Amino acid sequence: MLVTLSSVLQKAKRGHYAVGAFNVNNLEMIQAIMAAAEAEKSPVIISTSEGAIEYAGMDELGTLVHLAAERSKRPVVFHLDHGKDVKLVERAIKSGWYTSVMFDGSSLPFKENIKTTKRLVEMAHKKNISVEAELGAIAGMEDFVSVEARDAHFTNPEQAVEFIAKTGCDALAIAIGTSHGAYKFKEASALDFKRLQAIRKLINIPLVLHGASGIPANVKKICIDHGCKIEDAKGVSDAHIRKAVSLGINKINIDSDLRIAFDAGVRRFLAENPEVIDPRKILGPAKDLITLVVRQKMNMFGSRGKG
Ligand code: G3H
Ligand code: 13P
Ligand code: ZN
Repeated sequence: MLVTLSSVLQKAKRGHYAVGAFNVNNLEMIQAIMAAAEAEKSPVIISTSEGAIEYAGMDELGTLVHLAAERSKRPVVFHLDHGKDVKLVERAIKSGWYTSVMFDGSSLPFKENIKTTKRLVEMAHKKNISVEAELGAIAGMEDFVSVEARDAHFTNPEQAVEFIAKTGCDALAIAIGTSHGAYKFKEASALDFKRLQAIRKLINIPLVLHGASGIPANVKKICIDHGCKIEDAKGVSDAHIRKAVSLGINKINIDSDLRIAFDAGVRRFLAENPEVIDPRKILGPAKDLITLVVRQKMNMFGSRGKG
């Protein structure tokens, strides 16, 4: 069933677990993620980025997710990820498809981020749609050489208090050292947990961790063994994800891990079955690998059995 982000995350906050938000671009990814939610009896957030909408269409993705959610007993949130274009966020709110939107004003000056987020929150709440907002630059620990540089770019706890009070947003994406994509760290996984603790202490709404893919070694190996050049890819360690959840993260965004699972499934199948030309057969193993990865995340985030 379709539900709002707020309802799912408030429950997660009370239960001290996190719910995965998985990016989709096509039917197969939606099917794979829903299969994982059914198997794990987990709530799930299905996210579409601006790029996904450009690729597949808002109405097309909305139709597929609504059908899947209506057929399922699991709580399903349909979420717009990283809406940077205000017009697109407004379109998503008006469309009737989304139960949650993210306005990403992180690159705007603080006051402008507040002003636009507040306006979109008012508009979304009239339609019972939740709003996630973002404060701070989502970038890796290694991108900043000094503590001062991190302070200037990562989420400032006091600013976060003011931001939430003035905007009324339902969830906040914070910057504590994760980054988007498959290349997050040159050395070991490292996050600013002190900052997360400081933010959690001052703030009472659910917190969101973007850029949380782990680049699982087994999936990465299948990709590499079949010709994919991702040797240097490195994600957030499972231990750090668990620690982030224990310190109060309630929504965890995953895209890159689904991409490498898809890639691994397609590459391996084609290498082992060079005579097959049927897309349904080619994409089947890719779906199965995505389901496996998503099930593993649901277990790690603690959302198993919560839906
Ligand atoms: O956070 C961004 C997601 O990984 C979406 O990526 O804009 O290429 O669809 P995309
Ligand atoms: P990853 O690139 O780590 O999967 O992050 C995805 C994300 O944050 C989507 O909003
Ligand atoms: Zn993100």
